[in-house]
Amino acid sequence: MKIDNNIKGLREFFEADLAKFLHQMHDDTRLWQACDYCLTAPGKRIRPVLTLMVGQMIGVPLEKLINYSAAIEFLHNSSLVHDDLPGIDNDDYRRGRLTCHKQYDEGTAILAGDALIVLAYQLICYDSHISNDQKQILVNILSDAFYKLCIGQVLDLANMGHQRSDNQNVEELFLELKRRHLHKTGALMSCCFSGPAAIAGENDNKFEFLTNIGEHLGLLFQMTDDILDAQESGNTQAQDERLGLITYVSLFGIDEARRYAKHSADEIIEKLSSFGGKAEDLKEFVRYIESRTV
Ligand code: IPE
Ligand code: IPE
Ligand code: MG
Ligand code: MG
Ligand code: MG
Repeated sequence: MKIDNNIKGLREFFEADLAKFLHQMHDDTRLWQACDYCLTAPGKRIRPVLTLMVGQMIGVPLEKLINYSAAIEFLHNSSLVHDDLPGIDNDDYRRGRLTCHKQYDEGTAILAGDALIVLAYQLICYDSHISNDQKQILVNILSDAFYKLCIGQVLDLANMGHQRSDNQNVEELFLELKRRHLHKTGALMSCCFSGPAAIAGENDNKFEFLTNIGEHLGLLFQMTDDILDAQESGNTQAQDERLGLITYVSLFGIDEARRYAKHSADEIIEKLSSFGGKAEDLKEFVRYIESRTV
């Protein structure tokens, strides 16, 4: 299968397959409606596009990664539905629409988040393009990552209301911040690299190298999320500030956070250079993640 390797081409390719999956999975329950409401909202589809792009870079055919990339997007959506709940971030809007628990109700949103996890695993189990061994590896990769994501979310909960005080050491706070972000965002982002690496049968070194780039990109992604959150808030309080969470912006200020994001993007791009010309699209994607405005 040959398609445009660029961000737009891969996003369209993914969206078309997602529509097929949704059609096949569709049932007439309120639970499904709530899942569908989340999955069809205008998300950026960064993780599936990234997965397909990494696959292109290391020579994995797209058909071997389409179900896997959808599984990552389902898990991502599950994490967002739960993240918005009153017991976590208590948000009313996401992607310009009411959050799942506001559109439906809290119980339905909890269950839709659960269902999205199970459906993600079904996508892997029913994938006819990969072997059973490969399925097992992918299930392990996703399970490890999603467990880490849950740890990260619990770390966020534990840190809510802990604004920085004068006697706290910035270095320590920074390390703690990175640990939280590596868990809540880096872990799932790294699956976009480790899954394709596993299917390509890369050796341990290469697998680690790619997984590490994914984690690094997750940190960059969360940095820009914090910067956007601070920027967009205008006169209102930034979301993370409202929650009393320490962020790159609250630690270093917005200009330094931007400089740090640029530095991180440079480092990731440097690492990708070892893949030569095949990494060009991915490098462009890293710049997009660094400079994104939504
Ligand atoms: C938001 O992720 C959650 C974080 C990890 C910061 P995205 O910004 O990728 O969410 P969508 O899918 O594009 O809405
Ligand atoms: C969410 O982080 C990360 C996960 C859902 C694991 P945030 O709480 O910062 O994400 P947004 O800002 O609500 O999208
Ligand atoms: Mg949160
Ligand atoms: Mg949130
Ligand atoms: Mg945020």
